[in-house]
Amino acid sequence: MGSVGDWSACVDRYRSSPLGTVYAIANQKGGVGKTTTAVNLAACIAEAGFATLLVDIDAQANATVALGASKTTEPSVYDVIRGDVATADAVIATDIEGLSLLPANPDLAASTVELARESGSDHRLRDVLAPVRDDYEFVLLDCPPSLGPLTINALAAADRVIVPVQTEYFALEGLAGLLETLRLVQLRLNPRLAIAGMLLTMHDTRTRLAHDVAQEVRTHFPDLVFDTVIPRNVRISEAPSFGVPVIHHDPHSSGAAAYFELAKEMVARG
Ligand SMILES: Nc1ncnc2c1ncn2[C@@H]1O[C@H](COP(=O)(O)OP(=O)(O)OP(=O)(O)O)[C@@H](O)[C@H]1O
Ligand SMILES: [Mg+2]
Repeated sequence: MGSVGDWSACVDRYRSSPLGTVYAIANQKGGVGKTTTAVNLAACIAEAGFATLLVDIDAQANATVALGASKTTEPSVYDVIRGDVATADAVIATDIEGLSLLPANPDLAASTVELARESGSDHRLRDVLAPVRDDYEFVLLDCPPSLGPLTINALAAADRVIVPVQTEYFALEGLAGLLETLRLVQLRLNPRLAIAGMLLTMHDTRTRLAHDVAQEVRTHFPDLVFDTVIPRNVRISEAPSFGVPVIHHDPHSSGAAAYFELAKEMVARG
C-alpha cells in the first residue's frame, strides 16, 4: 500500500486547484471495470485524505453494495434526481473515513424513461450535485453500461471522464462511438469536459492477447491511456462480496497496489 508520504507532491499540487472536481467513470460496454474502478479509486483517494463522494448512477446498484450499503437504501439518487429529496439528505457515510456515498437502488431504472421524456433534463444531475460538490475534493460518478440519459447526465456534470477498457478481444469496439459522444457532449452540453484517461483493466499479464490489446489501445490513443494498468486479481473480484474496497479486503494484493498507483496518477494529472 502506498504511504501517505508518497502522496505529498501530488497532494500539494492538487490542493492548488478548485474544489469538487467531478469524474465520470464511463463506458457503454458492460463489465469492463467501471464500478470496480469507481469504488476502489474513491477509496484510495479518501484514504489519502481527500474528502470524496461516490455517486452511484446505475440501477444495478453495484457500487452501493460494494461499499457495504443495501441495494434497497432509501432515499437514493433516484429521489434526488426526481427532486423529492435534497442531495445532502440522501448522502450516507461509509466505513472508509472521508468517503461518502450517494446510493442507487433499482428504482433508478425509471429515470432512464423519465429523463428521456423531459426536455432540458440533461443537466439534472449537475444541478442536484451543485449544492454539495464543494463539500468534497473529488466526486466520482459510476455510470451504467449504456449511453442513455443517465450517462449523458453524468458527462454533462463532469469535469473529467475516465474510460475503463478491458484488455480483451473487442476492447476497441465501441470506443469510437464513445469518443464521438464525448465530443458531442463537449460541444453541446459541457465544454469543460476533458478525458482524464483510458484505463486498461483486468489485465492478464500472462497472455499474449492482453499484451497485444494493451499495445493496440496505446497506439490508437497515444497520450490518452493511464500509465497504471489494473491487473486481473482475484482479491479485486472478491472484495464486493464483503462490502469493502480491495485496499481493506487485502491491502497487500496487486489489485490494491494498482488502484493506489492509479489514484496517485489521477491526482497528479489534476
Ligand atoms: N482487475 C480485476 N480483476 C478481477 N476481476 C475484476 C477486476 N475488475 C473487475 N473485475 C470483476 O469483473 C466484473 C465486472 O466488473 P465491474 O462490475 O467493475 O464492471 P462494470 O463495467 O461496472 O460492469 P457494468 O457495465 O455491468 O456496470 C465484476 O465481477 C468484477 O468483480
Ligand atoms: Mg458497473
